[in-house]
Amino acid sequence: MMDDADASLRDFTGQQLTALLHSVGLQETTETSVRLLHDALGPAAARPVSESPVWPSDVSDDRTPVEFSTAFGDDDPAVRVLVETIADPPGRAGNLHTSLHVLGALTERFGLSLDRFHAVRDLFLPENPQGAFSLWFSLVFRRGALPAIKVYFNPDVRGVDQGPSLVQEGLRRLGFSAGHSTITAHALSRPGGLDRFSFFALDLDEGDHSRVKVYVSHEDADVAVVERAASAARGVDAERVPDFCLLTGGPGPFTGRPLISSYTFVDDDRDRPSGYSLYVPIRDYVADDAEARTRVLAVLQRCGIDPTGFENALNAVAGRPLTDGAGLIAHVSLRLGRPRPGVTTYLSSEAYGVTAPRPLRLAN
Ligand code: TRP
Repeated sequence: MMDDADASLRDFTGQQLTALLHSVGLQETTETSVRLLHDALGPAAARPVSESPVWPSDVSDDRTPVEFSTAFGDDDPAVRVLVETIADPPGRAGNLHTSLHVLGALTERFGLSLDRFHAVRDLFLPENPQGAFSLWFSLVFRRGALPAIKVYFNPDVRGVDQGPSLVQEGLRRLGFSAGHSTITAHALSRPGGLDRFSFFALDLDEGDHSRVKVYVSHEDADVAVVERAASAARGVDAERVPDFCLLTGGPGPFTGRPLISSYTFVDDDRDRPSGYSLYVPIRDYVADDAEARTRVLAVLQRCGIDPTGFENALNAVAGRPLTDGAGLIAHVSLRLGRPRPGVTTYLSSEAYGVTAPRPLRLAN
């Protein structure tokens, strides 16, 4: 819990991360983890959260360049932080420059593998980036392991019209050309640009589970759209998708923030991915976070996951009563197939502000 308006962004989010790590039993690595967050945030995070955000980060609704998530499943929970590096002064090119500097430092410290990053960086990191962001980091904390780091690229970085070809070429360079056709056939078949590539992500480690992930946003989708999208992945039970949508977001159609699909490619997934995740932006489909919590608990129960970890994580990050806003619980995702099936819950820092609860929609 944080209520210190004079805190810097780095201290505010660092205290939330500390509480979150403690809440799920990952306290041993707190110091390293908080330092990593601090470094990834960049220089602008020294400013107090009482000032308005210096850069309109798309990481979260209130422009905080940080979002927490906790992944539940068969293994111990993992805590992750999505971070955008903000330069001082901030700007598209400046932020990218500073984040590359950060990446260099982290590479040394954590022995990251940048082979695949270098294979695609000229595609996704032009000198004059466009769009909402160029490079985001995900910092992943698990028990008994060094932090893992993932990077997100923006398919729109050369303009929205270039997105499809950047993703196609990125997959080709990494050996997954045939997988691109599978995704296109299952997830991008509606006309009018309703389905679009939204992120391209890489794990920066060499292990067998090291992934390439491609994300597709589905505007105005109904459940059938994402069930079909899920069926592109090998060994994934797409029939679990409708129930997950119903429990977390309702019956649809999903006309608020879009449902998002992601596909995971690992080692020998040449022609189709072996993992699929569905992200429901639950905050747009509930009255407030109390309702979001109830829905998350229902979905965890349906998936046979002990709710204690989620409850503890929520208490650790929340700085207010759940009925006072909508958006602390930002997304909830269902992970199917490789590498680790389960449910992930995304928690907003709300360092800069809270979205007011929504008036209840009346049934018609
Ligand atoms: N804030 C953006 C969105 O809601 C990006 C984002 C942050 C996101 N965390 C996410 C997208 C988790 C999907 C899943 O779209």
